[in-house]
Amino acid sequence: RRHLLGIAGMARAEIVALLDLADGYVEVNRAATKKSNLLSGRTVINVFFETSTRTRTSFELAGKRLGADVINMEIAWSSIKKGETLIDTAMTLNAMHPDVLVVRAPDSGAVKLLSEKVNCAVVNAGDGSHEHPTQALLDALTIRRRKRRLEGLRVAICGDVAHSRVARSNIHLLNTLGAEVRVIAPPTLLPGGIEKMGVRAFTDMPKGLEGCDIVMMLRLQTERMQGSYVPSIREYFRFYGLDYEKLANAKPDALIMHPGPMNRGVEIDTVVADDIDRSVIREQVEMGVAVRMAVLDSLTRAFDSSLKAGGSA
Ligand code: CP
Repeated sequence: RRHLLGIAGMARAEIVALLDLADGYVEVNRAATKKSNLLSGRTVINVFFETSTRTRTSFELAGKRLGADVINMEIAWSSIKKGETLIDTAMTLNAMHPDVLVVRAPDSGAVKLLSEKVNCAVVNAGDGSHEHPTQALLDALTIRRRKRRLEGLRVAICGDVAHSRVARSNIHLLNTLGAEVRVIAPPTLLPGGIEKMGVRAFTDMPKGLEGCDIVMMLRLQTERMQGSYVPSIREYFRFYGLDYEKLANAKPDALIMHPGPMNRGVEIDTVVADDIDRSVIREQVEMGVAVRMAVLDSLTRAFDSSLKAGGSA
């Protein structure tokens, strides 16, 4: 695989291999000296057309810890502001011979389109409401390290499922690795036909949480709701905000997850978010660096092999 564009279509073995590689990098990141020269001489460019704290910073750290030169393209100071298209911007960067482009785009499918035009590896760092593959991988690594397995676990993904690339990537990954996936959302934020993705859908949160091992909360993406119904915050928190009363329906040792950024008092009660025994939200961030190291490591190796095998660059 030369690019990482989504979890859909990835084989179980491929996902497990990436998780195993990332597991090793967790220990590297905890050591006093973290730097290696594995990607010395390589160039990674972060191209984010949407805001990001976790994904962009962790890709930058991941690249630097592996010894690569990492450049963050600042959209606010780029020629995008003068009307240059996303593809023209990517082709311009491609002409500078990067090894990896890490791209976040507001439109679903934009990163795939871009990957077909450039001659370097491309990582999807989130495209519209479509996929966010490295988020699903880091979520899986967090769960696997805590619960020692993914197979057979009951996972609830709760909130704004309709606009969530995190939900889509997690549904693909968790189903592939044998978890039982539920989605919980108000009817207006539940995409029609979601059951075809192999999940059970609930609009009643306490019922949906029954017997769950993992409770994964999602942010209300009001920036993607132009022209559609936006629930009132008070009403939303009452029915879909995670508090201890609703959480009591899940297993007593259920883990609380959130990809971030988190809106306290909207989709999650602040004391639940900070519950040191059950919330693994900070651990997800830690796993994010390890997963992104594994992705950069494996994609550059795969890209090199494809060139050696005579594939066009
Ligand atoms: N989870 C996630 O993608 O966070 P950022 O938007 O901060 O990168």
